[in-house]
Amino acid sequence: MDRTRRLRSSEALRSMVRENHVRVEELIYPVFVIEGENIVNPVASMPEINQYSPDRVMEEVDRVIEAGIKAVLLFGIPAYKDEAGSGAYAENGIVPKAIRLIKAKYPELIIIADVCLCEYTSHGHCGLVQDGIILNDETLPLLAKASVTYTKAGADVIAPSDMMDKRVLAIRKALDSAGFVNIPIMSYSAKFASGYYGPFRDAAHSAPGFGDRKTYQMDPANGREALREVEEDIKEGADLIIAKPALGYMDVIKEISLNYNIPIVAYNVSGEYAMVKAAALNGWIDEKKIVMENMVGLKRAGAKMIITYHALDVARWIHEDMGRICR
Ligand code: PBG
Ligand code: ZN
Repeated sequence: MDRTRRLRSSEALRSMVRENHVRVEELIYPVFVIEGENIVNPVASMPEINQYSPDRVMEEVDRVIEAGIKAVLLFGIPAYKDEAGSGAYAENGIVPKAIRLIKAKYPELIIIADVCLCEYTSHGHCGLVQDGIILNDETLPLLAKASVTYTKAGADVIAPSDMMDKRVLAIRKALDSAGFVNIPIMSYSAKFASGYYGPFRDAAHSAPGFGDRKTYQMDPANGREALREVEEDIKEGADLIIAKPALGYMDVIKEISLNYNIPIVAYNVSGEYAMVKAAALNGWIDEKKIVMENMVGLKRAGAKMIITYHALDVARWIHEDMGRICR
C-alpha cells in the first residue's frame, strides 16, 4: 500500500529524498552605492540594507565574502541627475568607481552591474522621455554605452533592467564590438510593473517623477506574454533570464523553466523583503523558517539562482545547518 509518510519518518530520511536545495553559490546579493563620502545610510523600508559611499562599501563587501557569497548586483545612486541619465554611462560614474574598488580587493567576486537609466534621470524613467512618452530605440545606445562602460571598469555580467525592446541585442552588439564577447548578459526579461518595487525606489532614489512604468514593464495579469519576452531575449543573445518579482510570480518561473533551457534567476524583490522583515521584527513569524521556505519555493518553481536582500542571512543559516550536520 502506498504510504507517503514512510519517507518522512526521520530528518535523515527526509534529507535523503529532498528534491530541492538552496545553495550559497546560487545567491546574489544587491548592493547600493551612493556618490559621496563616509555614508552608510539605512534604507527605512528595508531593515539591515544600507546605501554605501565608495569609501565605506567595502564593509558590506567584506561581509559578502565572509558569507561565501559569489556574486553581488550593483546599483548606483549618482550625485546629480539629468534628462539623459548621463551618470549611468559616465566613465567616472558611481558604478564604475565602485566596480574598480571592489575588483581591486576581490578579483574573484562576480560583479553583476544593473543597467538602467532610472536612478540617473531627473524624470526617474528607465528611458529617454519626449513629450511624456518613454522612447525605446533612442534609449538603446545609452544602455549599450553604460554596459560597455561597466564592463571596462571590470563588471563580469551585465544585467539590463529597463524593459526597452531590443536592448539585449543592442547591448550584445556593443559588448562584442568592444571586444567583450565573453561577458554574459543577465536580462530582466519577465519584469512586471509591480507595487513590490516600492522600497527599492526609496533605496535607489528611482521613483518615476510622473506617471508609472506600465508602458514598458509587463502587466501583472499576463503570464503567457512573459514567455514571448523570454523567447525574444534568448534570440537577441541573453545568457541568463531574470523573472521578477518572484514570490507572487512563481507560475511564471515554472513556465519559463518548462519551456526554455536557460538558467533562470528569480529576483526576490524589495517589497517581498520588506513584508517578511516587518512581520519578523514584530515577532509575528519565524524569520528563518519563512525565508528558507520562500527560497526553496523559488528553487522548486525552477529558479537556478536567487537575487535576494536576505542573502547574507540565508548564507549564514545554510552554514550553521551544515555545521550542525557535520558534528
Ligand atoms: C530599475 C530596477 C528596479 C528594480 C531593479 N532594477 C525598480 C523599478 O523598475 O522600478 C527593483 C528591485 C527591487 O524592488 O528589489 N529599473
Ligand atoms: Zn529603471
